[in-house]
Amino acid sequence: MSTKTDTVAKKGYDVEEIRAQFPILKELVHGKPLVYFDNAATSQKPRRVIKAESAYYATINANVHRGVHTLSTKATEAQEAARETARAQINAKHAHEVIFTSGTTASINLAATSLGQLLLKKGDEVVISGMEHHSNIVPWQLACERHSAVLKVIPITDSGEWDLKQVPFSERTRILAISHVSNTLGTINPVKKLIAQAKKKGIVTVVDGAQAAPHLRIDVQDLGADLYAFSGHKAYGPTGTGVLYGREELLERMPPWQGGGEMIETVTLGKSTWAKLPFKFEAGTPHIAGIIGLGEAIRWMQDYDLGAMAAHERALLEYATKELLAIEGLRIIGTAKEKVGVISFVIDGVHHYDLGTLLDQQGIAVRTGHHCTQPLMDRFGVSGTTRASFACFNTIDEVDALVAGVTKGAKMLR
Ligand SMILES: Cc1ncc(COP(=O)(O)O)c(C=O)c1O
Repeated sequence: MSTKTDTVAKKGYDVEEIRAQFPILKELVHGKPLVYFDNAATSQKPRRVIKAESAYYATINANVHRGVHTLSTKATEAQEAARETARAQINAKHAHEVIFTSGTTASINLAATSLGQLLLKKGDEVVISGMEHHSNIVPWQLACERHSAVLKVIPITDSGEWDLKQVPFSERTRILAISHVSNTLGTINPVKKLIAQAKKKGIVTVVDGAQAAPHLRIDVQDLGADLYAFSGHKAYGPTGTGVLYGREELLERMPPWQGGGEMIETVTLGKSTWAKLPFKFEAGTPHIAGIIGLGEAIRWMQDYDLGAMAAHERALLEYATKELLAIEGLRIIGTAKEKVGVISFVIDGVHHYDLGTLLDQQGIAVRTGHHCTQPLMDRFGVSGTTRASFACFNTIDEVDALVAGVTKGAKMLR
């Protein structure tokens, strides 16, 4: 099955060995082998991650940071080991700069609420880009509304990249919030370059790394990001888990966004004081099992060569792009030179929803619709696209199945 894959991917990349670790890939959908190309929505999970999560419930289930008993100590140690693993993965300076959240959405809401309170005054500006996921638009709209600030937008070029000649920085810009990788276009954005420009102007930078975490080596210190958000479930980890990295000095100044247990140092009925980092931002019982699973997912990725995974996905992207473009009337939205394995396309006379439904009949899972990027859809004048997004376990044979399915679907639906 992997012969063709091996010829296009980096030598030594054993996709079958990787596939064997994902139990779900043995499932049939409508009697056909599952072809899973919806990894940008959520990736599948290797057995190790599933086991780690259930082992917590089976052997050490207890609340963290609360008890003196053995199980609580073990649960706390396992959770904090995951924090250290996440720290190393993104090269943060300190483990306490890693805040666990329920996902990128929660991370950005935390950032927008807390930074809004810390930084935004009437007439101040927040800059985002025109390719952001709704999760990196709406929290900033809410923050701007709360503080009478103004949201400004970096326009997007025809190839699906930031128009760096039109970055609307001004002396009132306080925050830059941008995605590392676009979930709809696959574009890998020049975040380091823009962060450097922002820093010179004293602008605080927030990066949505939801689509970068599964594909790119992330080094928050090298990027210079003040805050960096990602989700566990898009990077082979459990749903309901995420990280907000923050530079220590900034986190110290940021107010908490949720109140409750564990985030306090002292409470009186009149006033409370806050716990030290990272707990100031982690009110309530966390998703302990999920966090342990997230740590295992990161360790699983670390056991492989991320560069080899990226090269494999790049090979799939290039092959799929070439083959899909041969289909009459098919247009790819997002043609940047630097992309991860994401292809969004439209076909003249074919509705994406109908195509997605037909592909599902053949066992092929793709995403259809606006992908939570409605402003980007407006920019390209489409109501939605069909999106195939690749992971390390996908194969060239699966791309062939997709291309055959799209070809057949386009003929039937036109
Ligand atoms: C670029 C981007 N940002 C944010 C999110 C939101 O992530 P979550 O739903 O895991 O909070 C997504 C999810 O698709 C995304 O692709």
